Amino acid sequence: MLKIAVLVSGGGTNLQALIDAQKAGQIVGGEIACVIASKPGVYALERASKAGIPTEVLVRKEYPTMEDYDNALIGTLERYGIDLIVLAGFMTIISDHVIRKYTNRMINIHPSLIPSFCGEGFYGLRVHEAALQKGVKVTGATVHFVNEICDGGPIILQKAVAVEQDDTPETLQRRVMEQAEWKILPQAVSLYCQGKLTVKDDHVLIAK
Ligand code: GAR
Repeated sequence: MLKIAVLVSGGGTNLQALIDAQKAGQIVGGEIACVIASKPGVYALERASKAGIPTEVLVRKEYPTMEDYDNALIGTLERYGIDLIVLAGFMTIISDHVIRKYTNRMINIHPSLIPSFCGEGFYGLRVHEAALQKGVKVTGATVHFVNEICDGGPIILQKAVAVEQDDTPETLQRRVMEQAEWKILPQAVSLYCQGKLTVKDDHVLIAK
């Protein structure tokens, strides 16, 4: 069984999708070993506790340097023997040092079809605001491996979602979560845990 750490900063609906998938036996070969939040009091922590999953809180500002924070994060991950890190709405910047240490072992969910509406400054509702401002008719979500380029790592899964004419950022966000994020994130995690993902020349190959 691979051990998974889910890193969160907010409501944790993607975490909930992973918990539900795990309960339904849909995370084959892996289990959520801990949830790490970037601040105390976020609802994601409650979701984890209700599911009996150990929680940790690591607040960047409480560490004088990035190196101190990195050491705390790596120390926590190693204490739980983590094999796979899942960023599920995690809003603290992760250093290149940690990213390199977990090359092809860290995945992120992003609420657009990368390479649209991604990179620095594109997170949460802002992504959907930008999609509506551009007037795209289709958006979606992407699960990708994390590398040193913000939202630039090898793409694992994507799912498209229609934009409706009367959408607000909030209604679009909700539809993208329901129709795409909550589906492809557990799928990608399960594929990873079954050893079905290979990265070759920055492209992800999925074994049948
Ligand atoms: C999700 O929509 C996720 O895709 C997004 O934050 C939200 C977290 O919601 N992540 C990013 O924008 C990363 N760039 P949740 O806490 O309910 O899972």
